[in-house]
Amino acid sequence: MTTAIIGTGGLGSVIAERLAAGGETLRLASADNESAQRLADQINRDAVVAVDNRDAVKGAGAVVLALRFVALKGVIDELSDLLPDKLLVVPSNPVGLDAQGNVERLLPKGQSSGVVVAGWLPTGARLAMAFGTMSRDLFESSSNRSPELAVLFYVTDDDRAGKEVERLIRTAGFEPVKVGGIEQSDRLEVGGDLHDLVVSPAEARSLVAGA
Ligand SMILES: NC(=O)c1ccc[n+]([C@@H]2O[C@H](COP(=O)([O-])OP(=O)(O)OC[C@H]3O[C@@H](n4cnc5c(N)ncnc54)[C@H](OP(=O)(O)O)[C@@H]3O)[C@@H](O)[C@H]2O)c1
Repeated sequence: MTTAIIGTGGLGSVIAERLAAGGETLRLASADNESAQRLADQINRDAVVAVDNRDAVKGAGAVVLALRFVALKGVIDELSDLLPDKLLVVPSNPVGLDAQGNVERLLPKGQSSGVVVAGWLPTGARLAMAFGTMSRDLFESSSNRSPELAVLFYVTDDDRAGKEVERLIRTAGFEPVKVGGIEQSDRLEVGGDLHDLVVSPAEARSLVAGA
């Protein structure tokens, strides 16, 4: 299966490595494509650099937007006519740095980033918020954990998107656990009760149910 990864920085690069290691074919793009090219060289045969973001999406069934939250809407608008009937996976946390360099949430308290992103999508795109639930280092070190796989949480409103993102999560070496609908994405992000956890499926289900 082919997945486009747009954004090949800190997080996008490890998502790409893990998916390629699991057998996914990748089409990569970044702002100036230099990081995408370096990553493709490293991954080798299973990843190609697309000409641009739109070219990356063509021929891919799923699109991972590994972008800072502030860059998301612009890229979604750029791709809008290509997104219907694709799975869109968004790992972005709605955070930035304030003037003192402290992490600040970019949305008002109580506003779900998943609902905001869903409002930017064209009809027919299937959204799952996933792959941004832990730091890149934890993601990399927890992939293919043995003897029991670690969990990656996700949220979606769409059953088909759920099945598709579960396949990607398994390909990356994790066990998927659905937390709920897209409005629950704040549980997965920085500061959420399910962020940065490395847990077994049984622990994960108990945490989800216990909320
Ligand atoms: N890093 C983590 O540990 C981590 C963990 C969980 C969630 N997240 C979330 O993941 C998202 C990405 O974080 P990051 O650390 O990977 O950020 P990053 O290192 O700054 O990478 C951002 C990537 O976006 C690309 N980009 C920017 N504008 C673009 C455009 N218009 N078109 C295509 N590509 C564009 C950049 O391209 P260039 O490479 O060409 O500059 C870069 O590859 C954030 O929302 C963050 O909250 C990150």
